Parts: sequence; C-alpha cells; structure tokens
Amino acid sequence: MIYLDYNASTPVDPLVAEALVDALKHVGNAASTDHAVGAAARARVEDARAEVAALIAAEPEEVLFTSGATESDNIAILGTIARRAGPVIVSAVEHPAVLEPARRRGRAAVAPVDAAGVVDLRALDEAVTPATALVSVMAANNETGVVQPLEAIGAICAERGVPFHVDAAQAGARLAINVERMNITLLSLSAHKMYGPPGVGALYVSRRPRAKVTAVMWGGGHERGLRPGTLNVPGAVAFGVAARLAAARRDEDEVRARQLSARLLAALAEVDATRNVPAEVALPHTLSLRFPGVSARALLHAVNDRVAFSTGSACATIKDQPSHVLAAQGLDATAIAQSVRLSLGRFTPAEDVDTAARVIVAAVARLRALNAAGLVPVWASPAP
Ligand SMILES: Cc1ncc(COP(=O)(O)O)c(C=O)c1O
Repeated sequence: MIYLDYNASTPVDPLVAEALVDALKHVGNAASTDHAVGAAARARVEDARAEVAALIAAEPEEVLFTSGATESDNIAILGTIARRAGPVIVSAVEHPAVLEPARRRGRAAVAPVDAAGVVDLRALDEAVTPATALVSVMAANNETGVVQPLEAIGAICAERGVPFHVDAAQAGARLAINVERMNITLLSLSAHKMYGPPGVGALYVSRRPRAKVTAVMWGGGHERGLRPGTLNVPGAVAFGVAARLAAARRDEDEVRARQLSARLLAALAEVDATRNVPAEVALPHTLSLRFPGVSARALLHAVNDRVAFSTGSACATIKDQPSHVLAAQGLDATAIAQSVRLSLGRFTPAEDVDTAARVIVAAVARLRALNAAGLVPVWASPAP
C-alpha cells in the first residue's frame, strides 16, 4: 500500500519512535515532584517544552502540552471568548476544530478567501476592529496546502489590539514560524502532523503581550491552569524530538517534496489532472487535484488496495460532506466531487510516486471508459 495521505497523519520518524519507546520505560508523573522520579519526569517534559518552543521562536513557559490541535484550538477560542466580547473572525477555510467552537458559541464571523484559497486581506482589514474578540487564521490548509499571509494578518491584529490565533497543525514541520515577528497571540500544533505520535499537541500562549485566556476545563491546575490532566510524558518527549527534527530537516524535506510533487503531477498530466490551487500559494507536498469527468469517490474505491489518499480532510470524510474549503474558493459541486488530496512527505520514496501515478492513471482511464459506456460502477457516488 502506497501512503499518500501525510496531511491526515504523518508516519512517526524512526528517531522519534526510538525516543518514545525509551520514554515509555520510565515511570513518573510530571506533577509528582515531591520525589526524584517525578522530578525526572518533569525535567524530561521541560526539555521537550523548550524544543517545541524553539520551533516557533517562543519561550518555553509560553508552550502548553495538550492532546492535539483540536484541543489547542478549542482552548484558544473558547478561552478567549470567555474573556472578550465580540465576534471571532475566522477564515472560510479553517478546520472544524476552529470553525465549530466559534460557531457553537454563536460568535463566528467568516472572512472570505480568493479563488486561490488565500484570505482576502482587504476584507479582513475592514472587518477587524478593536471590538473583535479574536482573529483565527490557519498557517496552511489541510486540504489544499494553501499558506496564509500570517505576518500581514498579525500586523492588522496588533494594530487594533486584537488577539491572533493560528492553527499551525499542518505547518509545524513545514513553515518557519516566528510568533513574535508574526504578532501571534495563540498557536496550535499537533505532533502527529509532524512525524510525532498521535495524542499530543501544544498551544502557544503569548506572555508579552499577555494573552487573555480563561480555563475552559478544570482539574489539578496543570499547564498554567489551562490544560488540566496528567501530562503525557512520553508523548511530550517524542513531540520534542519531532520538533527538533522538523527545524533541522525543514529545507531538505521541502526540496524533496517539491521534486516528488512535480514528478507526480507530470505523470498525472497524462489524464489531465487539474490543480485546484496554484503551486505558488501552496506547500509543495500537498496536491489538491481533480480529474475531469471522474468522481473522486469512484477513483478512491478503484485504487483502494494500492494507494491511500483522500477526497479531502479526514473530518469531511467522517461527516461525508463536500469540502467547505474548495467551496469557499468558488469551486462548483461537480469540481468538488471530482477533487482528491494527495499528500506526501519525508518518507515517500520516488518509486512510490511512480507506482501511485501509474495506478491512478489506469484507474482514471478505466472510469472514464465506463462513464462513456454509461456504466457507472456501483460504488461510485451519484453523478455529481
Ligand atoms: C488544520 C488542522 N487543524 C486541526 C487539526 C486537528 O488536529 P488533531 O488531530 O491533532 O486534533 C487538523 C487535523 O486534521 C488539521 O489539519
């Protein structure tokens, strides 16, 4: 099985796996520092905290460990709106982990994106006022890889004294983020999107200027009182290693991703693969493509036992909903139903790209022939 679904979850880097296995050999609750065993666990967590902080140019005490980006996003949004009145301005292409908490509290105000999926800075500039509770815009989109202009958005927020939250789940291993330069107040990360294990993430909470965030869960007061619960020490240790590797390998990973994506696209051109976003605005490892005349669901089923990729985000797959991200860019229902996401990364061999392309090209050709003969495969979605 060829894995081209890195945006759903990345494989754990062998160096991270080694650190995780080693960490599992140690006992100790990082909050039980009355004895040396607990203190050693705490020290391992603090080392990891420093590594995660370094990745985004933050101070270690500004980083809280969470269970993942969903929890980080929820704490950031719910915890801010408990303290500040006004709307939460979110981009139209945010992940449900951002959209849902803002919507369910009746606070979401949606900022449009252009046809490429980039936030409309002029609209945002008009919408953000000192009465805005929070602005939340992701670093890179999970479905399309589109990178948002964080520095420009941060400048708009800073000028009006509005906190700025960034969901950087997809960017942790791929973009150089500097929270101070980008005027970011809160930032979410997820280890399993950056070659670490699932079940651990982080929330950056700015100290200068001080983010005004209230607890939304209560317990033993861990993690500055904002994320109660026993710390996942092995997870944090592994995340620390993943963060260190992310910084060290970012450039190399990017060069490879660029080469592999170009190779995949060139091969898929044979069946007229069409990009949903221009290459210039997207991270190179993510390809949001459509194959005209071919239902994405039918294609997925046709290659199911050979290549793993998806029609969009894992969340949209669970809910079986059309992509709100592509709709926000103005794609029509037919184009959305034909769209797939191929995402690759650090451990994708070039041979896998070639084999995947061959399998997809053959499947697209077969499906088009079936369509032309009026024979739609039983497992295909209804004609879009
Ligand atoms: C942009 C974005 N935000 C948030 C999440 C949720 O991350 P986690 O799985 O760590 O809760 C994801 C994962 O799909 C994502 O891609």
